[in-house]
Amino acid sequence: MRWLLVVVGILGWVIARETWGVRSQMEKKIFILAGQSNMAGRGGVVNDTVTGIARWDGVVPRECRGNRWIVRLNAGLEWVEAQEPLHQDIDETKTNGIGPGMAFGNRILKKKKKGELGVVGLVPCAIGGSNISEWERGKVLYNQMMRRAKASLQQGGTISALLWYQGESDTLTYHDAHAYATRLRKFFSDVRDQLHSPLLPIIQVALASGSGPYIETVREAQLGMDLLNLRTVDAKGFPLEPDGLHLSTSAQVHLGHMMADAFLPFLPTSLQSAAPLPSKAPPTVSNLETALLEGKYIEKVNWGSNCLTSTAGLRLKSDHLHLTTMSEVHLRIKLPQPYLSSST
Ligand SMILES: *[C@@H]1O[C@H](CO)[C@@H](O)[C@H](O)[C@H]1NC(C)=O
Ligand SMILES: *[C@@H]1O[C@H](CO)[C@@H](O)[C@H](O)[C@H]1NC(C)=O
Repeated sequence: MRWLLVVVGILGWVIARETWGVRSQMEKKIFILAGQSNMAGRGGVVNDTVTGIARWDGVVPRECRGNRWIVRLNAGLEWVEAQEPLHQDIDETKTNGIGPGMAFGNRILKKKKKGELGVVGLVPCAIGGSNISEWERGKVLYNQMMRRAKASLQQGGTISALLWYQGESDTLTYHDAHAYATRLRKFFSDVRDQLHSPLLPIIQVALASGSGPYIETVREAQLGMDLLNLRTVDAKGFPLEPDGLHLSTSAQVHLGHMMADAFLPFLPTSLQSAAPLPSKAPPTVSNLETALLEGKYIEKVNWGSNCLTSTAGLRLKSDHLHLTTMSEVHLRIKLPQPYLSSST
């Protein structure tokens, strides 16, 4: 009888291995998670008052549970099934807990039919305590993120968005807080530039907390950033751990959902199904971004690394994809000359 168990065991192992292999080869939607501690995840991490050591309480809400549709690029650049804490071997000098990543992944999977989306690939890169200067192109954290981003593409898939939550460390001095907008803009444009993805969706978080007094200055920089395909979700007022700096587990779940909802409209299927909806109101704007994403205007608009323009208010033809003639004229006025080729 024992041999039967052994055979069944081996068979099971082979099947599990095969399906895992197939799944990790499947088309992946890849997300880069970067920033500082609140992206790395400190939900459920509390100081032990006796030992003085920070510990994670180990509580994983249902929304953050791992499943076979979410994989994570580990520190060894291999895809493994994703489990909290996502940044355990990345922000390795700190105690990691719940961040927004798993709640994000589960939410987008829930909103789509399984298989339609493929596998969600999360690439954790956040490092607790890091300031925006440390994420400058060419610096260690930036290079590490790029190396991980490139490695994530090795077995197929596409980088679908950058999820970014950072800035608490830039609230310490007047100078850094006021330099934040310029530094952040450059960071976003460098990432898009180096990933050859000038319209890469970016979902960023406006600060809930900070290590210094200039939180509002950094928040203004974040909320005022006007970049195509950038979405900002606001964490202000979210419940924090007793340290007053880190989002609680439930806050992180909520944040992950908000980030997912901000990202979902970028998915091609939802874009297509949104297109032919009959509507009385003149079609505008978010669909223009769709058109840009689909490359309809790429030949007309040469997106240089600093092309930042709002498409708000531009009207579209009834196909919900193409600009009306007036809007085209408008776009030409709004965009700086170098970004337009002469052809119409
Ligand atoms: C734990 O306490 C130390 C020292 O007071 C502090 O720096 C740290 O932020 C605290 N961590 C948490 C998770 O509360
Ligand atoms: C950013 O952090 C690094 C490392 O802690 C530090 O050396 C640097 O002075 C900081 N830069 C700014 C502008 O705060």
